[in-house]
Amino acid sequence: MTEPLRVQFVCLGNICRSPVAEGVFRALVARAGLSNRFEVASAGTGRWHIGEPPHTMTQTVARGRGVDLSAQRARHFGVADLDRFDEVLAMDAQNLAHIRALLQPNHRARVGLLLDELGASAPLHEVPDPYGGDRDGFERVHSLVEQACGALLERLMRGR
Ligand code: 4NP
Repeated sequence: MTEPLRVQFVCLGNICRSPVAEGVFRALVARAGLSNRFEVASAGTGRWHIGEPPHTMTQTVARGRGVDLSAQRARHFGVADLDRFDEVLAMDAQNLAHIRALLQPNHRARVGLLLDELGASAPLHEVPDPYGGDRDGFERVHSLVEQACGALLERLMRGR
């Protein structure tokens, strides 16, 4: 048995953006029959929401698109994650800077921005923070994350 490829998505609170990425990527992997080859997780660089389920609007939008996020609970991103996960995908430049500040040359993780999976010509490189905004913002987050997760899975399957 080969080790699963471990993928973690990171945002600030781990209640709006990275839970969507975790749920969507896990669903894509399951649909492709690859669940035994991946371990999927998410975390936040901030501590405010540790232990909480994803934001109500995040869950509502995801449920409307067939993805159930209700079992997720917010975790805090820690330096140990950089040795546990093979791929750490940040939602925005602030999250990426936080992660990079902890990254050492001997860590196993490859670190990057999730939307960079869409290529250099993609219109956006950061997933906008929808917290405190209206439903449209959460819908937009879901669409962006969905596209990028598809591209991520393609890249990882090419590389294995
Ligand atoms: P997220 O959104 O990083 O996508 O989970 C946020 C959630 C909570 C806060 C900020 C962003 N907050 O400041 O509590």
